[in-house]
Amino acid sequence: MEFSITVLPGDGIGPEVIGESVKVLESVGQRFGHQFLLRYGIVGGGAIDATGTPLPDKTIELCRSTDAILFGAVGGPQWERPGTTVRPEDGLLAIRKRLGLYANLRPVKVFPALVNTSPIKASLLEGVDIIVVRELTGGLYFAKPKRRWSTLRGRRGVDTLRYTEQEILRILRVGFELARSRRKRLTSVDKANVLESSRLWREIAIEVSADYPDVELEHLLVDSAAMKLIQDPTRFDIIVAENMFGDILTDEASVLSGSMGMLPSASLAGLPSTDSSTGKRSVGFYEPIHGSAPDIAGQGVANPIGTVLSMAMMLRHSLGLETEASAVEQAVDGVLAEGYRTLDIGADGGDVIGTNHMGSIIAGRV
Ligand code: IPM
Ligand code: MG
Repeated sequence: MEFSITVLPGDGIGPEVIGESVKVLESVGQRFGHQFLLRYGIVGGGAIDATGTPLPDKTIELCRSTDAILFGAVGGPQWERPGTTVRPEDGLLAIRKRLGLYANLRPVKVFPALVNTSPIKASLLEGVDIIVVRELTGGLYFAKPKRRWSTLRGRRGVDTLRYTEQEILRILRVGFELARSRRKRLTSVDKANVLESSRLWREIAIEVSADYPDVELEHLLVDSAAMKLIQDPTRFDIIVAENMFGDILTDEASVLSGSMGMLPSASLAGLPSTDSSTGKRSVGFYEPIHGSAPDIAGQGVANPIGTVLSMAMMLRHSLGLETEASAVEQAVDGVLAEGYRTLDIGADGGDVIGTNHMGSIIAGRV
């Protein structure tokens, strides 16, 4: 089959890790007889330098007319000057918002070969298999007012945590649907002891749970969820959280897997089962959860696995290629089992290799 993929490498280590996931994608194409037509676009800091904006029109057009988007990372110190008004990250946030990618799935798995790489005790890590469903287009990231100003008594700044019933409902449905297809346990994260938007969130979670009697619903306050994620990670199946809580919890959760460099993500405009209104599969956006890591950019040491696994999620969720997605995941599993490591996961005495080499070995195993 033939697919069109928009590739946005971005800044920092973005181009390095994207290069490896494209390598693995090409090997999937050869092995399974698919044609992937890649179209590259600019985004983030590189786009600011070239055009003055982090998301040029041409790039958003490439995103709208494609089967899926593979994204690296954006940002870096050279675009962080004080007083700056355009930021590389705005390009990423604008893509999420403009494509309506409200459902961010962040699977957290611990590869058996890496249980000794995490600072968490190995005995707690065996069998960890969580999907964090992060709300991605609302809450503190986007709601207005959002601004800074000066008064006679000093500077002020405001961000707004606002959610509508529809926004909460649709993300919870994604969580319940996923829970139903797995171990049927849903943890809804909020801060209902303090925040009004969280009290609404919890109320809606209880209401919608009536449609999913087979799924066990629990509510956890976000601070307590942060603690339990480290203390007893295997208790979790699906975690659903608002945008900012999900952002924080997934960096924390990445520690379980050994490194930020390991975790993939998919940003979707709903699951096919929760978004049946249009009848057609909507575009999906695939990126590792790590950032542009300017400190190691250009050295060829970044871990490409989070990006390769994001590409596997793309095969599964946007292209309907389940066998191919599993083949990529198994290749990663095999390579780790053989002892190959990148620097970030190399503490257990494995064979530390560079970004390029890691990508080639995974591609060779597909
Ligand atoms: C993430 C990142 C982004 C976010 C940044 C780069 C804007 O931390 O995808 O988790 O906060 O959503
Ligand atoms: Mg983050």
